[in-house]
Amino acid sequence: MKRYERLAEDIAERIRSGVLAPGDRLPSVRQACQSHGVSPATVFQAYYLLEDRGLILARARSGYFVRESAQHLLQEPQVAYVAARTTSVDVSELVFSVLGSLKDPQTVPFGSAFPSPHLFPLARLARSMAQGLKKLSPHEVVADMTAGNPELRRQIALRYMAGGVRLALEELVICNGAMEALNLCLQCVTRPGDLVAIESPAFYASLQVLERLELKAVEIPVHPREGIDLQVLAESLERLPIKACWFMSSLQNPLGASMSEDSKRTLYSLLERHQVPLIEDDVYAELNFGGKPARPVKSFDSAGLVMHCGSFSKSLAPGYRVGWVAGGRFAEQISRLKLMTTLSPSVPAQAAIADYLQHGGYDRHLRRLRHALEAQQGAMLAAAARHFPTETRVTRPSGGYFLWFEFPERVDSLQLFQLALAQGISLAPGPIFSANRRFGNCARLNYGYPWDARSEQAMALLGRILQSF
Ligand SMILES: Cc1ncc(COP(=O)(O)O)c(C=O)c1O
Repeated sequence: MKRYERLAEDIAERIRSGVLAPGDRLPSVRQACQSHGVSPATVFQAYYLLEDRGLILARARSGYFVRESAQHLLQEPQVAYVAARTTSVDVSELVFSVLGSLKDPQTVPFGSAFPSPHLFPLARLARSMAQGLKKLSPHEVVADMTAGNPELRRQIALRYMAGGVRLALEELVICNGAMEALNLCLQCVTRPGDLVAIESPAFYASLQVLERLELKAVEIPVHPREGIDLQVLAESLERLPIKACWFMSSLQNPLGASMSEDSKRTLYSLLERHQVPLIEDDVYAELNFGGKPARPVKSFDSAGLVMHCGSFSKSLAPGYRVGWVAGGRFAEQISRLKLMTTLSPSVPAQAAIADYLQHGGYDRHLRRLRHALEAQQGAMLAAAARHFPTETRVTRPSGGYFLWFEFPERVDSLQLFQLALAQGISLAPGPIFSANRRFGNCARLNYGYPWDARSEQAMALLGRILQSF
């Protein structure tokens, strides 16, 4: 054990045993240095680790505090999921049947892919829509279709710059949501029958795209905290003619795993050595509880090998369908594919978001949104600890709005899904996240809706159903 890990374990033990109670303030870094005889860097690392584990939380300008639910939280899943295999993909029917069940507004939306629309500044966006449209000249109404709204492109590039990613404006292709961007990227670098490395578990829509394009999946295990298993990826790249990788290096859906900067750098070197392009899906970047987005693999891209896809769907404007890709050396080709298929995302929607980014207070909104999501995560974790079987394991992502639950082996999550739905509760069962129908005892739950008595009752009901297996 490293020194900071020993310190973290020591504090964790004091929390578990109740010596440090929920709400207690941890010693300041200076005090901790003195009492443990360690450097400030060691204390910071230990506190970051405890924060990652969901045991403590930082409050701006006040220090670190023991989380309310810290003593009672369920364990985290510990190991990366099993080894890679090459598979044809056939999950669409299952995915559609699950998604179809989400339409009823009376259903408790734990299975939803979006946070609550009430967390978005929809009225302010509507004003930006009016403003943005007023500013558009008749020429631009047509011209912006091919090139994209120039102010929107500039604003997106500025956000990349603020995050330490240097980008040529020509690299940016504005798309109909990240979903179109991801589809185009994959089409751009593969032909039917090719092998594509994806995560296991993976975002179910990526499996559907592979299915549609008749591509084969090489599933690479993801560690619930550290992300892609680089060892397995390295071996797979040596052994198999993989044509592209589609990964989420931060706040992976469904696990919430975020790779460290070092791992991202290693991942990039590996791909550069094999000249395999990376489609980096980073749609949850702005929902990092730590504040600014984590550095993407794109930031190491010196060869134009990374196609970095982003979106406003999850952080600002769900139905507007505006996303983008910073396409590296593939940008021109992606842009042409887009012109050949959908031509352009809606020009008014682009104008609205461009105006909002300039005048709407996006960063203020993001701070509020992250804060709400973090609190809701705490509430769902605490409710799970109260109601779910004690052997249940659950992730503690540092952002986004999903928790991944690993239930006891005896639980069949597809059956759980049906039973819960009959009681008005949706959830996303594990098998929809795998080309091989794995994760039969797992499920993804959404905590993106404000927590209330109905959420608590739904967790209690799920707990009773789980106990019946
Ligand atoms: C991981 C991931 N990538 C991409 C998307 C699609 O984003 P958009 O709504 O911008 O098309 C989603 C939406 O659910 C997602 O979860």
